[in-house]
Amino acid sequence: MKIEGKEYRTIWFENNVVKIIDQTKLPHQFVIKELKTVNDAINAIKVMEVRGAPLIGGTAAYGLALAVQENNDPEFIKKSAKELIQSRPTAINLKWAVDRMIKKLTGINSDQLLSIALNEAKEICDEDEKFCENIGINGLKVIEEIYNKKKDTVNILTHCNAGWLATINWGTATSPIYHAHKKGIPVHVWVDETRPRNQGANLTSYELNEEEIPNTIIADNTGGILMQRGEVDMCIVGTDRTLSNGDVCNKIGTYLKALAAHDNNVPFYVALPSSTIDWDTKDAKDIPIEERNSEELSHVEGIDENNKIKKVLIYPTKSKVMNLAFDVTPAKYVTRLITERGISEASFEGLKKLFK
Ligand code: MRU
Repeated sequence: MKIEGKEYRTIWFENNVVKIIDQTKLPHQFVIKELKTVNDAINAIKVMEVRGAPLIGGTAAYGLALAVQENNDPEFIKKSAKELIQSRPTAINLKWAVDRMIKKLTGINSDQLLSIALNEAKEICDEDEKFCENIGINGLKVIEEIYNKKKDTVNILTHCNAGWLATINWGTATSPIYHAHKKGIPVHVWVDETRPRNQGANLTSYELNEEEIPNTIIADNTGGILMQRGEVDMCIVGTDRTLSNGDVCNKIGTYLKALAAHDNNVPFYVALPSSTIDWDTKDAKDIPIEERNSEELSHVEGIDENNKIKKVLIYPTKSKVMNLAFDVTPAKYVTRLITERGISEASFEGLKKLFK
């Protein structure tokens, strides 16, 4: 998608380094960062220079290729794979991508290892782009249906950033929106700010602006009253891990939005590529929920009058602070899942029909 009119993907390999858009600097600065070692990739995932389930999967895949480039000793590759998987705990795409890389590299001669690792990492990223495009084509039908009834702007609420910046391209939740916009359907997006890291305000609104899609940032608690007033036609969010029973783990606050949508008969859609489905974990209580640094809550970051990024403390210094990064929305509150293979019920039966 576009930034200042120029097409980008979120990650690519060039001149023996991996290049990423540093998301910790957006929306105030556009910085392309180079990852030269597997440790650079691990750090980029941990500090969220790259974030969003599909993109951290893609970064982990390239991270493993960087490990091979550094030192193709099997023990080093094994250790790197483990550290990549542990760099963030909740999104299943990380493990999925690293496992796929290891499977591909097993039994390969050392002289071919690097080219195969680089090809597979590119393949993982290309596939994600295609899957997200298909999510858009499938989700477009839902937006079109609402528009055909309403004959007026479709108001869509989204949480966090499940946009192209969270994937390789297109996004998950945003892909149907981009497709609708390209087709000339008038859409307007209510963007949840998404405290504490403000991925909605900093990233979703930014990328929608760059694609000229009308959007309004709202405080996270505003969605409820907008739904009561009939100002939300549908919600679409992404997910970091969806269980085979249709339970959806996503950015903290998603659950509360789903409850409000349920109470107000607003359809609540979750968009995901199949790499985000966790077929093994049976109980949502077993999903590891990331707890991040309390500074993300107690401090806010912005630019000062000299265009310098500045961080300031906003809480009482003596207060205890807790920063859980994800929650789980039970399947019963999810209207449908939008995947690359089609739209399914949020249930094992529904998913099984699409993914045999
Ligand atoms: O902590 P983040 O910013 O990585 O969380 C991202 C989300 O919760 C997204 O909604 C999810 O990864 C889906 S991305 C297409």
